[in-house]
Amino acid sequence: MSTTAEAVGQAKAAITSADLAKAREVSATVGEFRSPTPRMVCRNVNVWYADKQAIKDVNLDIGKNEVVSMIGPSGCGKSTFLRCLNRMNDTIAGCRVSGTLELDGVDIYDKRLDVVPLRAQVGMVFQKPNPFPKSIYENVAYGPRIHGLTNDKAELDALVEESLRKAGLWEEVKDRLDQPGTGLSGGQQQRLCIARTIAVSPEVILMDEPCSALDPIATAKIEELIDELRANYSIAIVTHSMQQAARVSQRTAYFHLGDLIEVGQTDQIFTNPRHRLTEDYITGRFG
Ligand SMILES: Nc1ncnc2c1ncn2[C@@H]1O[C@H](COP(=O)(O)OP(=O)(O)OP(=O)(O)O)[C@@H](O)[C@H]1O
Ligand SMILES: [Mg+2]
Repeated sequence: MSTTAEAVGQAKAAITSADLAKAREVSATVGEFRSPTPRMVCRNVNVWYADKQAIKDVNLDIGKNEVVSMIGPSGCGKSTFLRCLNRMNDTIAGCRVSGTLELDGVDIYDKRLDVVPLRAQVGMVFQKPNPFPKSIYENVAYGPRIHGLTNDKAELDALVEESLRKAGLWEEVKDRLDQPGTGLSGGQQQRLCIARTIAVSPEVILMDEPCSALDPIATAKIEELIDELRANYSIAIVTHSMQQAARVSQRTAYFHLGDLIEVGQTDQIFTNPRHRLTEDYITGRFG
């Protein structure tokens, strides 16, 4: 067992039943948090940074072929919750997670589970495009190589091409695969990061404000891409743009101070929110 897994095990043990009871008292989500076809199932998820609770008893499913957007004011816990879904919080000292998080019925916090393949199955795209300081080709080939997904160079070449095509970038880069990934425009770099994520055959893709560093044209391309990717993957996206949430997602989850206040069909959340806090946020009275 790795040191990180040990730390998580100890962290889980350190959370008392009194902590959980207190968390449950304050949390009650309005709306249907379940999906009829769940890939990821999260139940009673709590997260603390040292003594400060950042996520309070959150229940949420991420369904098959759906995009779920997570919205809410700065500091409400969107990134924290997203990071629970592929155990990225393990890397943060003092961060403790409790509750149940499953991918296709498998407990992703099982102490025996190796987080390296988990983070390929549940890939992540960050706010700022972060290509490796390597060629465009190597950015995409790196993951399949370390995970042993291809048998020879021809297969790897084909996988690199397929991933770049799915990310809508192939036509723009096919003649300069050996040039540095960092030499691409911001929008192209973000699509390269998406290609890199796709290359290792994920089930779920997590995106934390993937367009916040991009111009409107690059943003539109990523939004179109998200809609196409839905055919093959489940996607959870954090966004500060309510227009973006409305355009790309089928369901929307509204977070407020660590609570999941309301979740529902995206059009319902934006046209007919049931909770006053959701309404205040989407009408601009809060946040
Ligand atoms: N590494 C950390 N150490 C300590 N506290 C943290 C850490 N990361 C986040 N927090 C705290 O947890 C709470 C939730 O933060 P989080 O980053 O998840 O919010 P967010 O909704 O993603 O905000 P934003 O919209 O600004 O990105 C905040 O109070 C934040 O200060
Ligand atoms: Mg954030």
